[in-house]
Order: sequence, then C-alpha cells, then structure tokens
Amino acid sequence: MASNKNLLILPGDGIGPEVMREVRRVIDWMDRRRAVTFDISEGLVGGCAIDAHGTPLTDETMADAMAADAVLLGAVGGPKWDDLPFEQKPERGLLRLRKEMDLFANLRPAICFDALVDASTLKPEIISGLDILIIRELTGGVYFGEPRGIETLPDGQRRGFNTQTYTTSEIRRVAVLAFELARKRGNKVCSVEKANVMESGVLWRDEVTKLHGESFPDVALSHMYADNCSMQLVRDPKQFDVIVTDNLFGDMLSDTAAMLTGSLGMLPSASLGAVDATGSRKALYEPVHGSAPDIAGRELANPIATLLSFAMNLRYSFDLAEDADLIQQAVENVLAGGLRTADIMQPGKAKVSTGVMGESLLRELDKLAA
Ligand code: IPM
Ligand code: MG
Repeated sequence: MASNKNLLILPGDGIGPEVMREVRRVIDWMDRRRAVTFDISEGLVGGCAIDAHGTPLTDETMADAMAADAVLLGAVGGPKWDDLPFEQKPERGLLRLRKEMDLFANLRPAICFDALVDASTLKPEIISGLDILIIRELTGGVYFGEPRGIETLPDGQRRGFNTQTYTTSEIRRVAVLAFELARKRGNKVCSVEKANVMESGVLWRDEVTKLHGESFPDVALSHMYADNCSMQLVRDPKQFDVIVTDNLFGDMLSDTAAMLTGSLGMLPSASLGAVDATGSRKALYEPVHGSAPDIAGRELANPIATLLSFAMNLRYSFDLAEDADLIQQAVENVLAGGLRTADIMQPGKAKVSTGVMGESLLRELDKLAA
C-alpha cells in the first residue's frame, strides 16, 4: 500500500474557492477508486487570510506548505484589498510561498485542445496542435531584487525603483531544467531575454550558452529578445518547443501563450524547487489565471486550469502519470462533447456553469474508468 500523499489546498480569493470546489470533487473521486489516498488539509492565502488573520499568509500556513508533499492553490487578490500598503497585499502571500519554498522553476504548458481551436482569437491553422512549454524563472529577477521602493526626491518628485538581478546559479538551475525537459519533448530550447539593453540579459545569454556547450549539446538552442518573442508567439507559436525566460518576461509571455489556447481559464502551472536528498522536490500547482473578482461567486469561472494544475501535481509530485492522463482525457472529451464555460463559449455550443462543468468532468471520469 502506497503511503498517503500530503496535499495542502489553498483556494484563496475570487473565483479560487469556486474552481477549487470542483477540483476537490475530482480529488475525492480519485481517492475513492485508487490505492493511493490523499491527506488533505486546507488553508488561507491572500485576501481571505488578511481578513481572518491580518496577513496574506500566516507562519503556520507557511510551515504547512513547507511540510506538504505538494500545494494546490487557486488564486489571490481582489479590489477589496487594493488599497493596502504594498507589503500587506494578497499577492505577497503567493510571492512568499514561491520564495520561501524556493520554487525557482515555473512550468506553464500551453496546449491547444482540438475542440478549442476556434475559441482562440488567432486563426485555427496558427494554433491547431500547439504544444509548447514556457519555463519561467520564479524566485529571482525584478520581482525580488533589491533595492526597491518609492522615495521622495529633494525637488519633491517621487521616484519608484526596482532592481533586476540574476546570478550564475539562478540562471543555470532553471536552464538545466529547461534542457532536461526539452529532451523529453521536441528537444528545442529558446532562451529569452533583452541582452540588447540589460546586463542581466547579457549574463543570462552567456550562462545558458555555456551550460548548453558543457552538458546539453544535443539539444537545439536558440536565443531571442523578449519583445520579438512576444511577437513570434502570436505570429507562429508552433516554432517553439520549450521557452526559458526570466520572472517578468515569463509572466507576460505566459499570458500571451494562454490566449493561444483559447482562454486563460485553460492554462495550468507547476512551480518546482530543487530535488532534495530524498529525491523529492517542493512543489506548488496553480492556474495561470488570477482571481477574476468581476465574475467571482457567479458560477461563471472555468475550473479546467485548476484541474489541469492538479493533473500536473499528479504527474510531477506524485508520480501518477496515468491518472494525470485520465484527467486530461476527460477534459478533452467534455470539450469535444460541446460543453463550454463562458470564457471559451462558441456559437452552437452549450454554455454551462462552473458546477455543471465539474459535474460533467466527473461523469466523464466515471466513463473512462469503467
Ligand atoms: C502570475 C500572476 C502573479 C505574478 C501575481 C498574482 C503576483 O500574475 O502568477 O502570473 O505576477 O507572478
Ligand atoms: Mg501573471
């Protein structure tokens, strides 16, 4: 009997709890029919944690996350907390999890499901069959660089400043993962920075090139400036296999990549730390979309990005690739059957609520597993 997997669920704010509720049903479904069971605990992160405890992430929840085999997160933030001082905002809870768990690699796959080829704003031939992986550095760069702040100048003006920094090891560890994962896919890595204007970009390009020569000469490596990459992503996204880039460029490019798949409501992500002595790594799984406060509580949200994040959890942390495949197949079948949440709605399809989408996914899983 396999030992139980310890999973910490943090639904968060906005549509987070709604989409997580549907994913919980799938987790319970897996629990019922599999040898492996999950030890699940829930916690607060973001605005709901501010309301309950006055901080976007308590030390207790942080400790729970450090002890868990994996963390599954919904979304954080909302207008209610917009006016809080910067250090107390809901987003700080998420950033603290990423930083303290040292989750340096954020995997954001953009896969276009056949049924959704027409849901994208791009022409079908540009995106059909799309399968790319954006690997975003997640614990460095301008998100965390010091000094940072807003100061008042002698002439009374204010000056806001942030620092972009990258060290050799920060660049190398995320690039290693990019090369390793490329070997299991199309064997191509495109490294993205702005070496034409930023020293951190020059170093990034240098280090990736060196690492490639030392350890991964069999992988095809190219380099691209980030502005060009954003253009190429909408011009001809299928030219890419794996893209590796820094924290800020990765944030932006992955939103673009999401639209290639039809909707931000479809894109999952995995944030991984280094492999430790026991062979496991810290990991957090979350949809790429945010808390979408404008549609929260109205049963309009798409639970698929969070469900696919759980599938990544099964694959990368729990070594349950078959179960992950099963979930992916269920998503594909439900979409092929014509059901759509509002974000991916198309003419002639059936518009369903968050709950009905979840219910349909469960029924599909039943069928697949029968
Ligand atoms: C993301 C989000 C976050 C980020 C926000 C919520 C802090 O946009 O995960 O892409 O900027 O990293
Ligand atoms: Mg983002």
